[in-house]
Amino acid sequence: MKHRIAIFASGNGGNFEAIAEAAIEGRMGDVEVALCVCDHPGARVCERAERLGIELLCFNPGDFQNKAAFETMIADTLDSKGIELVCLAGYMRIIGDVLLKRYGGRIINIHPALLPSFPGAHGIRDAYEYGVKVYGVTIHYVDSGVDTGKIIAQRAFPYTGNNLEELEGMIHSVEHPLYVETITQLLKGDL
Ligand code: GAR
Repeated sequence: MKHRIAIFASGNGGNFEAIAEAAIEGRMGDVEVALCVCDHPGARVCERAERLGIELLCFNPGDFQNKAAFETMIADTLDSKGIELVCLAGYMRIIGDVLLKRYGGRIINIHPALLPSFPGAHGIRDAYEYGVKVYGVTIHYVDSGVDTGKIIAQRAFPYTGNNLEELEGMIHSVEHPLYVETITQLLKGDL
């Protein structure tokens, strides 16, 4: 039986595509990306999911009464697809009580900085403006805080340049293989 995972994204979907391609190409062992969840109709990640033939659950939070209502709809869909692990990849929303109660301990997130430094929505820019010389990426379990859950994996690299775009490219090229490796190991029980 394959391990079925869902990837949540709000925008570009670079991490989504890297993970989905790795799974499709058999580089993650028995892992299938069974669902992409997106809270922004029209986001680039939706095109990527369609192109890769991955089922897409795209919703507009404004169509629901509150967060509990759309999280109930998401959790019901995860249940119906037999999802074992939820991977947040640029899903720019705090996970609420409903999802935490039903999927707590099975939701992980990637953050583009070395937590606990520079949590929040602008990790790369915040670290760059602070002037750090070592950057990195963190993968952690999701709890009710902002990027506060237990750390699973981190990868660091030095950067002393002054080009934010170049740095962003470097971060993303560290994120993609680290997320693929971490999910693979987690589902194999190696972590
Ligand atoms: C990634 O860099 C991810 O680490 C970051 O959003 C980007 C999404 O890119 N997430 C956060 O900042 C969460 N706090 P992608 O859509 O191309 O994967």
